Order: sequence, then structure tokens, then C-alpha cells
Amino acid sequence: MKDAGPQPIYLKDYTPPAYLVDDVHLTFQLSPNTTRVISRVRFCKNPDAASAEFFLHGEDLRLMWAKIDGVSIAPDVTEKGLTCDVPANAFTWEAEVEIDPANNTALEGLYMSNGMYCTQCEAEGFRKITYFPDRPDVMAVYTVRIESDLPVLLSNGNPTVSGAGFAEWHDPWPKPSYLFALVAGDLIPTSDQFTTASGKDVALNIYARKGDETKCAYALDALKRSMTWDENVYGREYDLDIFNIVAVDDFNAGAMENKGLNIFNSAYVLASPETATDANFESIEAVIAHEYFHNWTGNRITCRDWFQLCLKEGLTVFRDQQFTGDMRSKAVKRIDDAVALRAYQFREDNGPLAHPVRPESFVEINNFYTATVYEKGAEVIGMLKRLVGDEKYAEALDLYFTRHDGDAATIEDWLAVFEDVTGRDMTQFKRWYTQAGTPRITVTDSFENGTYTLKLTQETRPTPGQPDKKPQVIPVAIGLLAPDGTEVVPTTMLELTEDAQSFTFEGLTEKPVPSILRDFSAPVIINHDQDTKTRAFLLAHDTDPFNRWEAGHALATEVVMRMVTDDVAPDPAFLDGLAAVMRDDNLDPAFRARIVGEMPRQDDIAQRLFEQGRTPDPMAIYRTFETLKVQIALHLQDITPRIYAAMQVPGSYSPAADAAGKRSLGNIALSLMSRLDGGKQAAQQYATADNMTQQLAALSALLKQGGGADQRADFFQQWRHEKLVMDKWFAVQVGTAAPEDAAATVKSLTKHPLFDMRNPNRFRAVLGAFSGNAAGFHMADGSGYNLLADWLIKLDPVNPQTAARMTTAFDSWKRYDANRQAHMVAALQRILKNPEISGDVAEMITRLLD
Ligand code: PHE
Ligand code: ZN
Repeated sequence: MKDAGPQPIYLKDYTPPAYLVDDVHLTFQLSPNTTRVISRVRFCKNPDAASAEFFLHGEDLRLMWAKIDGVSIAPDVTEKGLTCDVPANAFTWEAEVEIDPANNTALEGLYMSNGMYCTQCEAEGFRKITYFPDRPDVMAVYTVRIESDLPVLLSNGNPTVSGAGFAEWHDPWPKPSYLFALVAGDLIPTSDQFTTASGKDVALNIYARKGDETKCAYALDALKRSMTWDENVYGREYDLDIFNIVAVDDFNAGAMENKGLNIFNSAYVLASPETATDANFESIEAVIAHEYFHNWTGNRITCRDWFQLCLKEGLTVFRDQQFTGDMRSKAVKRIDDAVALRAYQFREDNGPLAHPVRPESFVEINNFYTATVYEKGAEVIGMLKRLVGDEKYAEALDLYFTRHDGDAATIEDWLAVFEDVTGRDMTQFKRWYTQAGTPRITVTDSFENGTYTLKLTQETRPTPGQPDKKPQVIPVAIGLLAPDGTEVVPTTMLELTEDAQSFTFEGLTEKPVPSILRDFSAPVIINHDQDTKTRAFLLAHDTDPFNRWEAGHALATEVVMRMVTDDVAPDPAFLDGLAAVMRDDNLDPAFRARIVGEMPRQDDIAQRLFEQGRTPDPMAIYRTFETLKVQIALHLQDITPRIYAAMQVPGSYSPAADAAGKRSLGNIALSLMSRLDGGKQAAQQYATADNMTQQLAALSALLKQGGGADQRADFFQQWRHEKLVMDKWFAVQVGTAAPEDAAATVKSLTKHPLFDMRNPNRFRAVLGAFSGNAAGFHMADGSGYNLLADWLIKLDPVNPQTAARMTTAFDSWKRYDANRQAHMVAALQRILKNPEISGDVAEMITRLLD
């Protein structure tokens, strides 16, 4: 019989751990192929557990010996762990294992990157380091000794003793094993210090490879601002004597919040004006904040089990979004978050991978670090805050921190603090955690005798395993504008709880224009038939900046849809609207850039066509955008050079929001100008740029016009020793390639000496950028699908997590014509038949094909 493969585990099957751990002592004798890990763990029976079976997780470990209370034993060892008989009372487990970090290309557990040792344990990587109950509800105090000749030896907590060839660390805060970390390498610190509100001094260090220490200042500054912000806004202080961050070039994710020792993908730490773009600076600030904020939302209060992942991730993303909104422009941040949510999370909700914010089952937890858990999880927190109000939200959070400090908690615990603080029943609200799918709200309205009636209905379509959906509690922020543009009803929160509900507004003299879902008050899709004139009116007059942008975005979408379906020219009213925004010097440049530059995504247009019962043609959509952009460039050609000139920021580079906003609008003007001037302005910008934002935008504009060969070569010569800049060099070529050239570009770049599939950033720079080149990836002959499948098959045995993540490029296969569908299904089946397939990838493909 065929092996059924790994079986799913279910939230409903949760049982408490049979044994609890008081403390853990670990000794690491580091050596590339034969690292020894000696563990001493104090166990006691959990009085709350039914079972007395002693099981320790352990994978890819060579057990040298094991003892209980000093007596040698011979446990039953399998591929997944071990069992043995243990005493009834508390006992001491000791073991020594050997592991091979140099050959750990999966980048999970203890591995090596450029000669340094580092760890990644979330979610279930600690079991690749030693035998242990590797589950988040087992929390313990860790003491770690590292033996190595490398100069920098780091672990969690505070340093205790060190000497020639060793260092010891002690972390007084009980933590789950997924927050364990160790780093050893020849690293240079960039240091500072921070005094907490209660006067405690904290040493801050960011460690990087030699040469990169010049690029840590911005991250360090962002860290201090994060520490201050969390004290001021959430009343949360840091709780150790030292906070270390390490930049690692080979890393599967963005970064990791290990207690007192955050480990970062170097892309989210290292920045200089010459090597990092404004967008890089902004994401560094956000990720530094995110990982720091986890110290309270994740570490001090952790998750009972991995089904509760959104407990720490949704809340921490929400907190980092608030932080960025406070550091930069709130309105622009909200727009950026909504754009990302729609691009990744709505797409996920619409396809075979849809799952609730709190999933009910999984095979491989690594496959659930998704936009739904993170970004929709953050939206759910934002809705709670809107529904209970800022004051009650603050009270609820205070209660959460005092009540659950030191706990491994659940979503039920989280909702209970809101119930206790507000007296409100959260039963219906909880559906946001348990029901998958994006609610769709249909808006109709009427006006009679001075009374305006707004009727809202909600519907959520079936998702895998959830055919029937119940109505959710949806906070719908609205405002009403009089036809002359004045606001007659300011922002008001409507609570939609039924399938259909009407809301009335009395005493109005004329039928108002509604502005619905202000500030994107809920992660829903609004169906609202508004004509072009009304959208143009809202674009000009809405007092809510998000909805002002939204009106422009809806207009653009409507224009593109009509161009695709009716083969018409873009509506001049839309082009005039863009011109008016572009010209309006009262508007923040970053905001203008979002309206003029943030076109709907090709992928969104494909989904819309599909929902209208049409079959999207990726090439036709691509061509439509090309035509539209030329039309915009022509229509705005009298304004763009002036805007371009006005947006040049004099003096030395600053990554601050206002300067970044100007560069962003300036670069949009540049890309429009490049459509008409054959790249003249872009070549000039390339030649004179003193920062990566402008250098890269110029190169991109040139390549997009089919030119830029000299600049492409020059860029390579200038930056070939800078890994993060070379990632941009790879990605921009794939991203700007014409659809028919995209696969060939990928093929030649994967033969480049600097292409290395073992480095996730580099692999994503090429193959990730390829699936982002929608028309190139979806070439009708299936060449794009085959190329990606070939590479995922090659990557899987090397790095299953990254391979599994990238299978999501196929998640919209059901939208396309029979021919493309057949090519995609064949590509997926070929991946599935790979005899070396990992559990991670197998689960993804199985769900994709379902
Ligand atoms: N917990 C990390 C974060 O969101 C993400 C992560 C997950 C990193 C799994 C590595 C592995 O901050
Ligand atoms: Zn996180």
C-alpha cells in the first residue's frame, strides 16, 4: 500500500504535556560537521496531564548516550523522537547528541552561514538540536554554555561567565524551546545603550559580518525608537540587561524574536543610503519593531500550541503597523497595508489554500506562516479595537499582560480579557478566528423625505472544509458627503452583525454620497455600484484619506476593466483626476504617489474577470496596462517634468518619511517620463544618483523600456560584492522582462556564477520575481509553470520550507483557461511525483490540487 504520508494534527486533539520542565542546561561543543550538544533537563510530571508517557522530540540527531538520574539508559529511538521509562517523581534527564550544522541546508535547527553558526527553532526546529519536548506549552529557564574558538558566542538572556574558547548565558525568563537561539561567529558589534522608563540600563548590540558593520546604524536607531514606543503606547519595558540582534545572510523568513537574541535575515537589518532603498529602510524599521514587540506579545506571553499562532503574530503585526503609522504617515501606512492584504491575503482566501486565522488542522506548521495568520490576524485586532474603542482596548491589553504574563495562552484567553473588560459577548466576533474567507458586503441605498437609508448585506463564500458561513460582526466606518462636497455625517461606526441590515440617517436635505469602509475598517470586499462621476467626486472631496485613495483606485480598476473587456481607451475623466492629484501640492507626496502610481495589480484584474464569469488572459491584461501607462504618461506630460524637478531632495540622503515620499513621487514621474523620452531622464538619474532608491528606480525604468544594457553592467560591477544589492540586480531584470523574455531571463540568471539556490534571498530574487511577472509566468505554452516547477523540485531536498512557500504561485490555477489549467496541474503533479518530495511541499501541492 502507498504510504499515506504525514497525517494532519487537529486543534481539537490538544492535550497538555505529560511532563513539565523546570530548567535546561545545554553545552554546545561547536564543530562544522560534528557539533556535540550535551543536555541536562529537570523534568517533573504534569499534574494536569492524563498520560504518563515520556516522549521527547528529536530529528536528525545522533544519540551518543542518555542517563536518567545519572544512570545510563537505552531509550526507544525513532525518526521522530524517543521514549523510555521514567521515575514517578521529578528526575534529571541527560543526553549527548551529535549534529552536522555544516550540511544543514534547510536552515532549521543549528546551521552555518558564511562560517558563522546560527539557529532557527520556530516552529519545530529545536528538535533538530537535541531531544526535548519541543512544544510551546513547555516553558523552562535555560542556561547555555558554548565552546568554540570563534570570537563572538551568543545565546539568550544575560551573559554570565566567559573565557578563552567559551561563554555562558543564563535566561531567567521561562521560555518555550522555539525561542532558543545560539550564534557563534567572527562578528562585529554596533553598540548603544537604552535606559528603560524605570531606570534599568540595557546594552544594545547589532552583530554583522566584517564589512557590514557600517550598515547597522539605522536598525539600531529603529530599535531604540521601538523600545520607547512600546513603553509609551503599551506600557511595556524590556526585561534583560542586554538585547542582541544578529544579521544572517541565509535565512528562510524575515527575522526571529528569540528571547534577547533576535536573529535577522540581513535584508531586514543592513542599510546604507547607497545600498538600501527607501522601501528597505521602512521595512527594516517595521521588522526591527515587530521582533522587539514580540518580547511581550510572543515571549512573555506565548502560544499554548501552534494553532494559536495568530495570538502572537496577529497582535504583533498590528503593533508594528501602529508603530509605523506613528513614525510615518498613518494614511499612507493604512493604504499600504490594505494593498498588501488584498494582494496576498484576499488571494489566499479566494483559492484552495484558504484557512481560518486560527486553523483547525495542519500537517506541517511551517506552511501556516501565512498572510491570513499574520495580516488578517492583525486586521482582526484592529476591528476589536474599533468595536470596543481605544480606552477599552488599552484596558483589555493591560489585563492581558497582567493576567497572562508567563503563560502559554489561547485565543479564548485573549477574547476573555475583552469580555471581562467590556462585558460584551465575543461569541460572534470569534468567527473572525474560525471562519475562513473574505466577507463581501453589498451596499444599496435610498433617500426619501430627508431620510437616507443604507442597506448592507454580507456573504462569505465557501472555502475548503467550510461550505456554510455564518454572519460576522463587521465594523463598517462610514461618512456622508453632501453633493457640494461638505461632510454632513462625519465618520460613524456601523456594526453589521446580521446577513442584511439597514441604517438610517435623518434630517438631510439632499441625497448624500456615502463614503463606505473608511480607513479600511474591516478586511472585507465592498460591492457598491458607484458611477464614475461619484468616484471622481470622492477622489476630490472625501475627508477620509484612505477612501480618497480608494476612490481613485476603484476608478483605475474600472478603467482597466473596461479597457480589457470592451477594448476602449482610458476614460479621460480618470486621467484628469490623476492630473489633479499629481498637481495638488497640498497633498503629501507619498499620498500622491499612492494614488497616481499604485495601479491595480494584474492579478486583481484577473480575479475580477474570473468572478464576472470571464476567462482572464494574462497577456491581454499585461498589454492593457502597458497601453494605460503610455496614455497616463501622455496625458500628464506637461506636469511630470515639473513634479519630477520639484521632488528632487537637496542635500544628503535621509530615509525619513517626507524625503522618501518625495523620492517616491519623483520616481513615479520618472517612470512616466521614460515611457515617452526613450529613457533620457532615467539615464541621467542613473548617472547622478547618490542613493539606491534613485539608482535602482532609474535602472528599472531603463530596463522596462528595453534599454539599460550599459547601466545593468555598470550596476553589476559597482555592487557585485554586496549580496543584498545583487539580489536587487537579479530581481529587477526578471521583474522588468517582457513576458515573452521572462523565462529566458530566469534561465540565464540561474546560470550566473552569483546565483545560489541555497541562499533563500537569492532564490526568491530570481524565482520569486518570476512568479511576480504575471504575464511571463502565465505564458500560454506552460513554459513559465514548467520552469518554476523544475526549480521547486531542485530546491525541495535542499530547503523544503522555502520551496513549499513558493508553491503558492500556483494557487490561482482555477481561474484560467483549460489549456493553462492543464499545464499548471501537470506541473504540480510533476512536483508531487518527485520521489524526494518533502512533507512541506507535499502538503502544499495536495491542498493546491484539492
Ligand atoms: N516568528 C517570526 C516572526 O514573525 C517568523 C518566523 C517564523 C521566522 C518561522 C522563522 C521561522 O517574527
Ligand atoms: Zn512575528
